[in-house]
Amino acid sequence: MESNQPIGVFDSGVGGLTVVKALLDKLPRESFIYFGDTAHIPYGNKSEEQLFGYAHKIISYLNSRNVKAIIVACGTHSSVTLPVISGQYALPLLGVVKAAARAAARLSQNGRIGVIATQATVNKLAYTQQIIKIKPDLEVIEAACPRFVPLVEAGRLEDRETREAVAEYLDPLMQKGVDTVVLGCTHYPFLAPIIQEFTGNKVALIDPSCETVDEVAAILRTKNLLNDGKQTSSREFYVSGQDESFYKVGKLLIGDTIKQVLKLNLD
Ligand code: DGL
Repeated sequence: MESNQPIGVFDSGVGGLTVVKALLDKLPRESFIYFGDTAHIPYGNKSEEQLFGYAHKIISYLNSRNVKAIIVACGTHSSVTLPVISGQYALPLLGVVKAAARAAARLSQNGRIGVIATQATVNKLAYTQQIIKIKPDLEVIEAACPRFVPLVEAGRLEDRETREAVAEYLDPLMQKGVDTVVLGCTHYPFLAPIIQEFTGNKVALIDPSCETVDEVAAILRTKNLLNDGKQTSSREFYVSGQDESFYKVGKLLIGDTIKQVLKLNLD
């Protein structure tokens, strides 16, 4: 394995770009290959069987591109498929759940934590399990927010409808007195400004991407695989379905890092 090999990153669509943002910020010398599985979005309503099929295809593709590590930049895969498949591959596979759970357990003052995520993620209660593994007396309330992903994919980050969805999903958590909310689907941090407006500043919002990238950095450092920056880094973006809206919304979300988006059918 060479330090100048890229990192693979994948999600159903633009959500994993929250992780790309953190990568650009914390590990700017790294090259990466991003895959957005837009032909199968949303992941949140898919069966476990379907999700395992997608995960294997995407990971095999990234493997064939010689990545040195893969970030599963998706709460759904991190909860459903990653715990089962992580041991099946030789390279490091990192999800977003453990990092977010650590941050939540550290930050909550009153011991009441909300987790908002996709339906498939909430069904697994993976965040709850990880959080109570760290501190068993914490109370965790999970809520599925199926309206969010299509709104983020459409770039509708501050619409009236988006604000209504925020009120619908966050109000019950506020009623229960949570002081910390995990944005447990990687699409959701793009809604953080309007979620924070709704909850007020006393509630801490956790974006799993920063802690996840810190974890990736630590692993690569230990293996001596952090890019030394002698070669210029490359950033490639692929999607399985719609490429134009990914390009348009992706640019809105993370700016000019996205130069082009190529369509790639893994079936
Ligand atoms: N962004 C992904 C997640 O973190 C997938 C959302 C979806 O496609 O439903 O769960």
